[in-house]
Order: sequence, then C-alpha cells, then structure tokens
Amino acid sequence: MSQDKLDELRRRHAQAELAGGEERVRRQHKAGKRTARERLDLLLDPGSFMEIDKFVVHQSHDFDMENQKVLGDGVVTGSGRIHGRPTFVFAQDFTVFGGSLSEAYARKICKVMDLAMKTGAPVIGLNDSGGARIQEGVVSLAGYAEIFLRNTLASGVVPQISAVMGPCAGGAVYSPAITDFVFMVKNTSYMFVTGPDVIRAVTHEEVSAEDLGGATTHGTTSGVAHFAADSEEECLALIRELMTFLPQNNLEDPPLQPTQDPVDRRDESLQTIVPDQPNKPYDMREIVRTVLDDRYFFEVQATFAPNIIVGFGRLGGRPVGIVANQPAHLAGCLDINASLKAARFVRFCDCFNLPLVTFEDVPGFLPGTAQEFGGIIKHGAKLLFAFCEATVPKLTVITRKAYGGAYCVMSSKHIRGDANFAYPTAEIAVMGPDGAVNILYRRETEEATDAAAFKEEKTREYREKFAHPYVAAERGYIDEVIEPRDTRARLCAALELIRTKRDANPPKKHGNIPL
Ligand code: HXC
Repeated sequence: MSQDKLDELRRRHAQAELAGGEERVRRQHKAGKRTARERLDLLLDPGSFMEIDKFVVHQSHDFDMENQKVLGDGVVTGSGRIHGRPTFVFAQDFTVFGGSLSEAYARKICKVMDLAMKTGAPVIGLNDSGGARIQEGVVSLAGYAEIFLRNTLASGVVPQISAVMGPCAGGAVYSPAITDFVFMVKNTSYMFVTGPDVIRAVTHEEVSAEDLGGATTHGTTSGVAHFAADSEEECLALIRELMTFLPQNNLEDPPLQPTQDPVDRRDESLQTIVPDQPNKPYDMREIVRTVLDDRYFFEVQATFAPNIIVGFGRLGGRPVGIVANQPAHLAGCLDINASLKAARFVRFCDCFNLPLVTFEDVPGFLPGTAQEFGGIIKHGAKLLFAFCEATVPKLTVITRKAYGGAYCVMSSKHIRGDANFAYPTAEIAVMGPDGAVNILYRRETEEATDAAAFKEEKTREYREKFAHPYVAAERGYIDEVIEPRDTRARLCAALELIRTKRDANPPKKHGNIPL
C-alpha cells in the first residue's frame, strides 16, 4: 500500500480525535470535565475500545453548516469490555457543537443500540450535551424519538445505564430516564425539563441549575438519579462496579463471583441487632451487610427515600437484589417515594434474573394527608404489583414488624415468596398492639374505671396473642422461624435450592401496572 493512502487514513484519525479542537478541549477541562474519549478510557478495560462511525459527519446545509463538519459529529460510539465482558457505549462530546444531537449523531447512537440488542450486550451512554442541534430543527427531534423508541424496546432485554456528565435538558432527559440506572456527577451535571430561566419567567421562582437539577437534587429529592458521584472518576468506577452484578441480557444469569466467605457462616452479632423494644430503631443495613458475601453491599439510591434500602450483594457468589425496610428512618414505613424506589428496583431484578432477598420490618404505610393526596394508594400498589409479578427466586426475612397491607406487599408467601423466614422478634398481625386495642376496646376503655390499666392489660393480651411469628408459622405462611445468627446459612441454602426455580405469569401483551 502506498504511503499516501496510509497517511490519509492516519490524518483522518487524528482529525477525528481532535474533536472540537484544542481550545474547546481546554474549556472542557477547565469546567472540571473530561472529554468523551478520556471518559471511555476510564470506563472500559484498557485497550478494549473499538470505535465505529469515527468518520461520520452531519448532512446539514443551513446556517453555513456545510462548512463546519467535524469527523464523528460530536458523539463517540462503539464497543468495549468491562471486566472482560462486551458492552456497547456512546459518549457525547461537548467540544463538538456543544454535544448537540444531529440526525447523523442520532443514527450513530441507534446503530450501537441495535447492535446491543442483536448481540445481547448492555448499553452505556455518557451524556454531555446542549440538546437538540438547533441548526437541524425537527430532524434532530426525530433523532431523539428514534433513541427513545430503542430505549423502550431494549428495556428488560439488555441493561441500559446512563451517566449524565454535563448538561441534559428538555426532552433529552427522557432517554436517561427510561434507562435502568442514572448516574450523575456533583457540580458538573444537571438534568431538567425546563431550566432556571424558563422557571423564572413562568413561576417567578429563583433557582440555580445545580439546585434545580444537580446530582444532589436528583439523588435525594426527586429520585431521578440512582448514584450521585463526587467526581467523573468515581462515577465511571461505580458503573464498572454495578456491571459486576448484572447479566449481559435477560436470557442470562448474573455472573458468579466465587468467595472465600463460607455459605454457612454463623454471625453472633445478628442475635442482638434487633432490639427487644418494638419501637427502638436500628440500622437494617447492619443486618444486610452481615449476611452478604464478604459483608459487601452495593447500595442503590442510598439518599433517596432512606426508609427503604435497595441494592445488590452476593450470596454464595450469586448476585442478588436486596429490598429492606429501614427502621432507622420513618420507622421503616412505606411511603410514596419508598414504594416507587423499591418497585422499580424489584422490576429491574425480575427483568434480569436477579433473585430478590427482602428484609422486612415495616409498621405499615405512612399515614397523612400528604401521602393520601399524593396517591399512596396507586404508588403503594406499584410495589405490590412488582413483587406479585416477579418470578425470580424470592426470599424473605421478617426481622420485626410485618403489619397490615405492608405484610402482604413485602414478598409474602401469598404472593409467591419461595422461602419465608422470621426471627423470634417478628410481629406478624393486622396492626400493632396499641392500634388494635384502640379499635377493639374503644367502648370498654371509655367505660373502665381505670382506663389506662385496662388498656395496658388488653395490649399485653394482644401482644401475647399476635405480636410474634408463631401464628403465621402455624399456617405455613412462614417456612421457618430462625435464629438471627443463622440468617446467612439459611438464605444461602434456600437460594441454592430454588435457583433453578421456574415460574411464569399468564401469557398477555403486558400487565397494567398502576402508573
Ligand atoms: C447547537 C449548540 C447547542 C445546540 C450548545 N451549542 N448547545 N449548538 N445546538 N443545542 C454550542 C454553542 O453554540 C457553542 O458553540 C458550544 O456548543 C458550547 O456552548 P456554550 O453555550 O458556549 O457552553 P456553556 O456556556 O457551557 O452552555 C452550555 C449550555 C448552552 C447551557 C448547554 O449552550 C445552552 O443553553 N445551549 C442550548 C440548549 C438548548 O436550548 N437546547 C435545545 C433544547 S431543546 P461554540 O462554537 O461557540 O463552541 C431539546 C429538545 C430535545 O434539546 C427534544 C427531545 C424530544
């Protein structure tokens, strides 16, 4: 081959890699952000990135655009490996037309999404974009819609992960929103449907971009983000970590990770974590960590709706999804946000063959007008629906309270729980003793000569009759009442037994989850 031909190819590569030029790269770095290629280097196994469509350019003619063509057109796409497993990626390049989306750019993203679907591999998108390319008008909107369609069709087939590492505004937010997990970086990324200027004009509210749609806001207040990282490095490392728990697609099992931690490890500390006093808070995370392989729990949405805990861990090397009430926040009550958070997580696990392990200590749904007016009925129903339809192995441990509808919801035997355990401290009943006595003995209490003593006596009677796991155990609603120190051994043994479980829902187009 002649040297000219090789030089031409190399020149084009160099030009594409220059992206928006040195000055814009410098500005990107000054803003505390990395370029698309630098981010992919951190995300993927070293040397594994295989780029496609590197020489694609836009086809736009308006606004003198035919004289402004940049090879790659503002998005770097291709495939690579994470811990050795193939992954499709796209990384928006803010240094080229502000990372704005053109027709050609959208086609590049659609191409990797189509390849991911054909081959059954995850898609990871790194977002940093000024939105629709203004010079292209409706053609750009069409490109977004093509991506949204693919996000929707891929949902539940291959894992889809979004990292928002710069601006992401207007309708553009809906691609990350459809994907399974949204990562954000504090202080350098934001997501909103309408920005601070529009809000000021319409509602006269003053709010900064960071307060409106920054990582902390979406990690704690809205729940849009599942992870809020302190830096881009941390964000990309977290994505790599998340991937260790996920299968490549819905037809595979999640990857095994052998451990030295014995599956029958007894832990005496578990005997004393749940307090004897029924209203004393404790940190459910301690139980979760103690039970999992190497005490390692990868928490998701840690700062949103902290009254419920969700995340990943392993039992005997097998990845599992954890859902746990958190008595240290709102006494572990289920409210709107907790229901939404857990419902989406349960559905994700069910999509991708991750067994569900539920730790339960829930006094019920949170009372109040804010909850009722906000639709706790339909939002709580989402969690119920999610647990009911899930056909993955479902293991439940009731550590203390399992009252009312919340008992039914939290992966109970009646909604196809496979292995349901309870601690001796479990209280399984329609409601707690105080509430029950107030209703059952209202008239007698009013008529009693010593109302307080009467109430105390009736509460004690109720507690003895119902505030324990044995009525449920007598009916077989609980398979076994276990000593807390045996939790890991029982869960590992049960998982080993039921991991080959087969269950299915009736054939249908899809259910109608109460949205
Ligand atoms: C074309 C764009 C662009 C866009 C930015 N640029 N956004 N070019 N289309 N949407 C270009 C700028 O002209 C500039 O080019 C470069 O990108 C960097 O932009 P700056 O404004 O200098 O950067 P910064 O100050 O960091 O501000 C970033 C920004 C701002 C906040 C994103 O650029 C901005 O507000 N852009 C417009 C955002 C927007 O309204 N997009 C459309 C939203 S509607 P030079 O050559 O100077 O480097 C939408 C709908 C999606 O996206 C619908 C889906 C259904």
